[in-house]
Amino acid sequence: MSVHSTVRKVTTHVLHEMKLKGEKIAMLTGYDFSMARILDQAGVDIILVGDSASNVMAGFETTLPITLDNMIYHAASVVRATKRALIVVDLPFGTYQGNSKKALASAVRIMKETGASAVKLEGGVEILDSVERILSAGIPVMGHLGLTPQSIHKFGTYVVRATEKEEAEKLIKDAQKLEKAGCFAIVLEKVPARLGKEVSGMLRIPTIGIGAGMHTDGQVLVVHDMLGITQEFSPRFLRRYHNLNAEINGAVKTYIEDVRSGDFPNEREQY
Ligand code: KIV
Repeated sequence: MSVHSTVRKVTTHVLHEMKLKGEKIAMLTGYDFSMARILDQAGVDIILVGDSASNVMAGFETTLPITLDNMIYHAASVVRATKRALIVVDLPFGTYQGNSKKALASAVRIMKETGASAVKLEGGVEILDSVERILSAGIPVMGHLGLTPQSIHKFGTYVVRATEKEEAEKLIKDAQKLEKAGCFAIVLEKVPARLGKEVSGMLRIPTIGIGAGMHTDGQVLVVHDMLGITQEFSPRFLRRYHNLNAEINGAVKTYIEDVRSGDFPNEREQY
């Protein structure tokens, strides 16, 4: 019997078991109670309270403006909705880079004030001190390599990362360091499929890909993108499973017509 079908609660241990058995891990982002409940009931293994909330919930162009307080608000809402999925929360920009004490304090706030099970940090060797300090407090850490949107002003663009040998070699070393430090999984974002395959084959911990090809141990998408709520974002790696934007637009237009024509509410819809 498969691991994922038997567990009542997904833990980091369950994810390792899934990797060992070759079972793919399904992760989606989630930011609010109602959506998280749907994702959890559908059986997603991990809900990532991503700092992509900065884009899809708050309407900022980048992930940089979102605050720790904002992330805590989103994460606590997701935790209240969730029974089975593991909940991972992004540490936002400016709350962990270059200061491991501050990183630990940020991670502790997430764990205490939301009830989530793990945090995610972007970067490799540059943030290793922060990763180690958080891990030393018993807080599980997910790494994130490749395209790291919090560094967009350093990269300058959102193009595929690590296509050149030097950057690919650094990514491989970073992944090994994060695994050695004790991270329980690593997100690989927008890197060539062959590199996704190499890193996934090399590590004992699971890799979760987004635009990293078919060989990573799991996949993640931003839920607003895969449901077709967002329309303007169409990278090659994105599969849209629905066109919710059109569905919602149609429903709202019908509601407006019904109100204007006096069709809503009718006699059965009043007291
Ligand atoms: O913030 C986010 O949604 C993420 C995923 C894209 C991995 O980090």
